Amino acid sequence: MSLLNLSFFLSLLALSSHAKPTSPRAAPHIIHILVDDFGWNEVGYHQPSDTPEDEIEVQTPNIDQLKEEGLELDRMYVHKICSPSRSSVQTGRDAIHVNVQNVHPEVTNSNDPIGGFQGIPLNMSTIAEVLSDTGKYETSFVGKWDVGMATEDHTPYSRGYEKFFGYFHHSNDYWNFNEQKCSLKNIKDLWLHNKTFSGPAVHLENGAHCSQDNQSPDGERCVYEEELLMGSVKQQIKDYAAGDQEKSLFMFWSTHLVHMPLQVPDSYLDKFSDVDDSNRRSMRAMSNYLDTEIGEVVDTLKETGLWEDTVLVFHADNGGEIMTQSCGGNNYPLRGGKFSNFEGGIRVNAIVSGGFLPEERRGKVEDRLFTSSDWLKTYAGLAGVDTDSLSDAKAVDNGLPDYDSVNQWPIISGQGEDDEVAREEVIIGDTTSVEFNGDGDTLVGGLIKGRWKLLLGAKNKLYRISQDVVTSVNYPSKPMIVPELIFRTCSRTLKNACLFDIYADPSETTNVAEENEDVFNEMLARIDEIQESVYSPDRGKKDKRACKVAKDEYGDWWGPFL
Ligand SMILES: *[C@@H]1O[C@H](CO)[C@@H](O)[C@H](O)[C@H]1NC(C)=O
Ligand SMILES: *[C@@H]1O[C@H](CO)[C@@H](O)[C@H](O)[C@H]1NC(C)=O
Repeated sequence: MSLLNLSFFLSLLALSSHAKPTSPRAAPHIIHILVDDFGWNEVGYHQPSDTPEDEIEVQTPNIDQLKEEGLELDRMYVHKICSPSRSSVQTGRDAIHVNVQNVHPEVTNSNDPIGGFQGIPLNMSTIAEVLSDTGKYETSFVGKWDVGMATEDHTPYSRGYEKFFGYFHHSNDYWNFNEQKCSLKNIKDLWLHNKTFSGPAVHLENGAHCSQDNQSPDGERCVYEEELLMGSVKQQIKDYAAGDQEKSLFMFWSTHLVHMPLQVPDSYLDKFSDVDDSNRRSMRAMSNYLDTEIGEVVDTLKETGLWEDTVLVFHADNGGEIMTQSCGGNNYPLRGGKFSNFEGGIRVNAIVSGGFLPEERRGKVEDRLFTSSDWLKTYAGLAGVDTDSLSDAKAVDNGLPDYDSVNQWPIISGQGEDDEVAREEVIIGDTTSVEFNGDGDTLVGGLIKGRWKLLLGAKNKLYRISQDVVTSVNYPSKPMIVPELIFRTCSRTLKNACLFDIYADPSETTNVAEENEDVFNEMLARIDEIQESVYSPDRGKKDKRACKVAKDEYGDWWGPFL
């Protein structure tokens, strides 16, 4: 039997052992939950075991249960900020091969019709297109998109998702959906696309007085955005279950929580009235709301009978935000947070669960390397695609990078030996941007290989990497610090290098380059080699037409403008 036939035969075997006899599925349902800015220490299962019971601040019973019933991915790495991290998940590329800029979706560069926009360049295929193309999936996207809006071709519904309900920007107001202004006028960001409707979700607009400070204005509608998003996820699951279920379901649920602004229903805030720091109180309440809705969606999957045929993946887009006390995140015991390449920015909470996961993998911890690009080929493999030969011709023909993704299902499902790896290294992305959230050229900011992590600061920033701090367990209730003003030099010299043994030293305290000169030299050379392959188009500037169209065509709501 040829290798190809063998793997086909094995996948048939795997499918037949999981499928229900009455309705054999061609491929499992896939529910991908991408949570926003959710810190390492925001889950119950990451609370230090030596913390006295009455000092355990964080409780996430539903996420903890997901982990109990699933496989924890202990080394899941992502890009340090939102839009690049999401670009990576959606396209199966490392961020350096798709987008490392966190610019706004109004940005365009008319000189580059392929890459001159925010987010994913046109002519790169996405995870939803790959699954759609197998003919085995119906697809839906709910929540934060943040990888392009300029034309209809950039929206989720032109990138493989048949349905879209969510917003285009990094964030918006949870109560009035405002995001940015056009000449002093607030513009709202919430869009709905289904078979019969495509446009701003004007019918869901809250009353004019609805806000964080006034959550039940007299006689006015006032619904928390996250409730709308979760409600849609639950409804779509129920509608699907009530239908013919001919194709399997691929749903990408990209929560707003726990990203800024710090807004949450009062009933959740009240539960945390004993938390002194007001930012931390909001963050605790938001994480609790997130946990509650994860529980509701899992219950819906179980009640509808879909759970047994489901692969559910849960992970954060980057670490918790800890800067200037403005966000109240916590990544203890990892160093740094969102916007930094220390572990707190790029190593995130991640779980694979669902009834399709082989029983012997449930309740286990997997410590082999994973990264955000891997889901594309992992899911493609579940849909029966030969992932070894899967290539993105549309991209390659246009001179764009091909997939970096590797199929991790053999690792997840526990096939093969314990020391087999699907992924040898993780590439860490960075930019020359001086501002923490600005534009700049694409850089390789480091590399992870097995137990070794080498960080390399940008030359134009004197090789300095910010947020060189490990916060306390209950940060920021404890003494104030300003992480973004605390730097470490991570240069190309042995003495000032940042080579860490992240297995022995997860908090990245000690540079071990001098004792491991060969490792350091090899990894530095590899970084230089990868640097040659970066994709770094000029995304351009904010395009005035975005505001014009928002005002004239959508009545002060954002949408595609070219
Ligand atoms: C890139 O994609 C766009 C949108 O799908 C399409 O119009 C264009 O022809 C493609 N460009 C090339 C060079 O293939
Ligand atoms: C599409 O959404 C609109 C607005 O919520 C709704 O009225 C309509 O029934 C939906 N159509 C389908 C086919 O789901």
